[in-house]
This record gives sequence, structure tokens and C-alpha cells, in this order.
Amino acid sequence: QPLPVQRITGKARLAGVLGWPVGHSRSPLLHNYWLRRYGVDGAYVPLPARPEAFEVAVRGLQAAGFRGANVTVPHKEAAFRLADVLDESARATGSVNTLIFQDDGMIRGLSTDGDGFVASLRAAGVDLPAVSHASTGRRVLLLGAGGAARSVAVSLAAAGMEVCITNRTRARADELAASLPGLSVCPWEEWEDRLGDYALLVNTTSLGMEGGPEPGFCPALERASAGLVVADIVYVPRVTPLMAEAQRRGLRTVGGLGMLLHQARLGFHAWFGVEPQVDAQTEAYVLASF
Ligand code: ATR
Repeated sequence: QPLPVQRITGKARLAGVLGWPVGHSRSPLLHNYWLRRYGVDGAYVPLPARPEAFEVAVRGLQAAGFRGANVTVPHKEAAFRLADVLDESARATGSVNTLIFQDDGMIRGLSTDGDGFVASLRAAGVDLPAVSHASTGRRVLLLGAGGAARSVAVSLAAAGMEVCITNRTRARADELAASLPGLSVCPWEEWEDRLGDYALLVNTTSLGMEGGPEPGFCPALERASAGLVVADIVYVPRVTPLMAEAQRRGLRTVGGLGMLLHQARLGFHAWFGVEPQVDAQTEAYVLASF
């Protein structure tokens, strides 16, 4: 059915996304879709802010009555430093992607990427922490050691999973594993051979991304355990070569679009007071913009 026209009155609730550049962000499209769908009096706008102007921009938004903002590259660490109150997710990752301007004037910082990822797995029917009831149980192999890997690792560990990190640059994997309790490291050269030990494989690198460093990235999955679930946080293309290979082998896959939508859901609820649905309609609307 057609979406209602967006209602923006003098009392509209306001939020946006701070980034530099920010033109590629899907967040304005997604949040305004939900605002229209649920008839919320509000608006969500792109907020291009240069790194040196980040703090001024945040204070300005707060002074102008915004409810908060998403924060993307390159501001996530600056947002962490600026927030007055940090959620556990933010503390554990050292970064903030969601700011909430509280009524008492304090700025609350959250990192919703990892929890969005875990929510997207659960929404796809993956039963955490018991992905498989076989010996691979709750073991996860996580490809990558960047910011996305850290967020995903923190939330998977909180969901009761045993996380093993593997990364091209070993030192970054060691550093990430040492900074969080319970993580282990697997050599990058060996992970394909060791795949049988894991219930869940997660790609948090840009490998397989359209326009990325290696869009054709497709590792060997012949050692995969029978119940392996393969998740990719890359969402362009919707089915990455890694996911296609997993599907060819009859393995369950989860794409990255769900993570994008579920992390957005958490902010939307905080700013606009409505819990939006992440469903096929929402996915179709966002996908139509690609
Ligand atoms: P983000 O914060 O978005 O996670 P990042 O910090 O730049 O981004 O991390 C990118 C990840 O993709 C890293 O794990 C990186 O591996 P290195 O630490 O070895 O650089 C991984 N990556 C990017 N290009 C890669 C490639 N061609 N081969 C293997 N890993 C790659």
C-alpha cells in the first residue's frame, strides 16, 4: 500500500546522521520510511560535518532541539569521547554510533552495530548461543579485526558465544583478542582448514563487497561443519560470493542488510518512541535504493 505523506509540524522530533562524507548513507531513507509508515511527526536528515567541526555540530544539534543522531565514519571515536553517559556496548567497543540527547541535558552514547548484528541473526532464526547442538556448539570464527569486528565480537560474546578472531594482519587480531575477555586467535592461513570446528562463520571485512578490495572473495568451504551458518556484514551485493558458495553447499546464510536495519531500529526507537518493524517491506524499500 502507498506510504502516507511525511508529517513534519512545528513539534516534529528531529534526528540525523553525522558523517564526512555522508552522501552514501542509507539512514535518511530508512528512518524517513519508518517515520511515514508509522505516521510519526518527525524528520531524519544527513548532517555532513567535517572532523574538526564534529563537536560544534553535536552541540548545535542539541541546542536546536534534536533528539539525537547517528554517527558514522570518521566520527565514532570522537562521539565516544564526547558522550556524557556510555552504554556497555559503547564502553566495550570504544566507539559510539548512536547519540541520544537526554531531557536532562546529558548526551548518551551507544554502539548498536554489534547488537544489530546479533538481532539480525536471531531474526533469521539462528538460535544463539546454541547455533548447533553438535560439538561445534557455540564457536564462532570471525574474519577481520577492524571496528566492525570489535562490535560484532563484543555482542556475540555477550550472547554467550565463544569467539575466535582471524585476520590477515595477525597483530590486529592479537590486539583485539587481548582487549576483550574470552577471545582466541586463529592464523589467517589456517582458518579454511579449521572451519569444521565452528558453528558460525562471520565475515566482518570488506572482502566480497562491490567496489571493495576483493569483490570476488570466495574462500574454500569444503571443511565446513554440516550445520555451519555463514553470515556476512557486507550488504552490497545482497548475496556475496561467500554466501553464494555457502548456499551452494546447502549451508544457511545471513546477509548484512539485517544488521543495518536492526542497528537503525534501536536508534529509531530511542529518538521517535516507536519500535519499527524490520520486515520484508522494509528490506524491499531500502533495496530499491541500491
Ligand atoms: P572496519 O572498521 O569497517 O571494520 P577496517 O578497520 O579498515 O574497517 O578493517 C577492515 C578489515 O578488512 C580488516 O580486518 C582488514 O584486514 P587487515 O587488518 O589485515 O588490514 C580486512 N581486509 C581488508 N582488505 C583485505 C584484504 N584484501 N585481504 C584480507 N583482509 C582484508
